[in-house]
Amino acid sequence: MAKEIHNRKIKVTADGSHTFVLPDWKEHYHSVNGAISESRHVFIKNGLAQQAEGLKEYHILEVGFGTGLNALLSLEYGKKKALRLNYLGLEPYPFTLDEVKRLNYPKLVSGGIFSDVFMQMHELPFGKIAEFSKGFTFSKWQIGLDLAPLASSSFHLVYHDAFAPQFQPELWDEEAFYRLYSVLKPGGRLVTYSSKGSVKRALTACGFALKHPAGPTGKREMTVAVKNF
Ligand SMILES: C[S@@+](CC[C@H](N)C(=O)[O-])C[C@H]1O[C@@H](n2cnc3c(N)ncnc32)[C@H](O)[C@@H]1O
Repeated sequence: MAKEIHNRKIKVTADGSHTFVLPDWKEHYHSVNGAISESRHVFIKNGLAQQAEGLKEYHILEVGFGTGLNALLSLEYGKKKALRLNYLGLEPYPFTLDEVKRLNYPKLVSGGIFSDVFMQMHELPFGKIAEFSKGFTFSKWQIGLDLAPLASSSFHLVYHDAFAPQFQPELWDEEAFYRLYSVLKPGGRLVTYSSKGSVKRALTACGFALKHPAGPTGKREMTVAVKNF
């Protein structure tokens, strides 16, 4: 894996926002139909915005922190709705600061008002916790999902944003989803862009109840998996 992650190239997607591509896998970090629009649709509109009905404080786990785009969009949404967010990103193969500085996300989100926080998230050493912006507590761990010491029933939301199942099947099987089921609070939800048959079957086998809202541009559907009470 580490070898293939080498050599990432930046690319502009259809909505003008950047993504990175892994030439060895021909796999992108986001949809080429629009990185920001995909993330807003999958993780904010069908994730945080749905789960946010009622509560004022949320614990969010992201599997695959990567460029930090989902954290940035969560911060933006949380500010708009006056939510208190506690965000933990897992990322075994982090970007360098030079790579991060090339991304146009801070400029394209809320007119740049979160640019400083975006860089601070990337600069924060792994394992430290910081409140960069009032109501937004952030931490990231340089570790894969399989080894992360996560407490059970501690998250309201999981953003499952791993590379596609054909590249990293171990992040989409029953073992991985059972782990994520157990770290979610009752009623919590896992959201992901994938609606592959094998993914649906593995999620169902772990006890999740599934919904399949329309996907982002270019995808018929996505998956919302809810942990039943
Ligand atoms: C499709 S990319 C999405 C990244 C990120 N959410 C973003 O918006 O940039 C998948 C991410 O999962 C990370 N990853 C790879 N193996 C992982 C593992 N075992 N556990 C957690 N994340 C992993 C990759 O390094 C990559 O950053």
